[in-house]
Amino acid sequence: MTDIQTLTLTRPDDMHLHLRDGAALRDALPWTARQFARAIVMPNLRPPVVRLQQALDYRQRILHALPAGSDFTPLMTLYLTDETTPDMVAEAARSDMIHAFKLYPAGATTNSDSGVTELKRAYPALEAMQREGMPLLIHGEVTDADVDIFDREAVFIDRHLIALRRAFPELRVVLEHITTAHAAEFVRTAPEVDARGVPLLAATITAHHLLHNRNALFQGGIRPHYYCLPVLKRESHRLALLDAATSGDPRFFLGTDSAPHARDAKEAACGCAGCFTAVDALELYCAAFEERGALHRLDDFASRFGAEFYGLSRNAGTVTLARRSWTVPLQLPYAEAEIVPLHGGELLSWQVQPAPDA
Ligand code: DOR
Ligand code: ZN
Repeated sequence: MTDIQTLTLTRPDDMHLHLRDGAALRDALPWTARQFARAIVMPNLRPPVVRLQQALDYRQRILHALPAGSDFTPLMTLYLTDETTPDMVAEAARSDMIHAFKLYPAGATTNSDSGVTELKRAYPALEAMQREGMPLLIHGEVTDADVDIFDREAVFIDRHLIALRRAFPELRVVLEHITTAHAAEFVRTAPEVDARGVPLLAATITAHHLLHNRNALFQGGIRPHYYCLPVLKRESHRLALLDAATSGDPRFFLGTDSAPHARDAKEAACGCAGCFTAVDALELYCAAFEERGALHRLDDFASRFGAEFYGLSRNAGTVTLARRSWTVPLQLPYAEAEIVPLHGGELLSWQVQPAPDA
């Protein structure tokens, strides 16, 4: 237990975020804009954001949906498909508006059916990305039905990531939302850095994977709001992720993977994957870092390492959290329906200041 009462961070960046579109965007975005200065915005809309102009249009819709006075900056990404050409990569790089391409193995998760069917097909695009210094963000799970869902990340690393890094040793890669000791170790032991000393392989870690193991999915009954992909793993993996996040290693940085779905899409016979953490993201990361007595490491994890990886300057300004218990709203309005934030209805012991209704 520590007696720290307030924690002031450089305004942080969420380096992995789902914002959706239309009314859902309108209702999800303000929560992130309250806590974060910038976010890497995922392109898995329907249809996916595959062309530069689609990303520029989506960016405008995000800016229009911001609350008055917000200076939040969306950092756009494009969705890598079998049809992504080296020219599309070069055009995206020239625009300065596209910060990465996202690789979803086809069928891996929400709206991933346009994803890459076989990694080799993407090799010309990956070669162009390596040349342009354009990062590749990877949803690192195999989709083969014969691979156990709890093994899909580790198998992806062994079957695909090792070969991919050999083929493109200078490609900038983020292994997104890592969930296993295997992934943390793979990233931690990747020695490659660029001329500025920035790691070429990094990983984002979500708050929910730092705080929960797979028991959370079945605590007293089935708990759909804890269901995300990659799925929560056993406790030893959670502990390895906590080690990585709190180690001060610049290869690991914050990405919430906050992924809003309406309540009825989660609480269903076949519920959607995704934890909505935009409402209480920093508070959840605080709880995780405090578990390790590592609150002093949160600033670099949340506000520095990600910016350095993407070649961005650090944000001006700060955000302050106070040790104050508060109850996370049980549900919130979401696209003419409602949404349940992760930990909705529960007490948390840190709170971003000022509180939203202050
Ligand atoms: O849980 C998840 N939800 N994992 C993903 O990879 C996608 C996301 C979503 O878009 O809902
Ligand atoms: Zn995601």
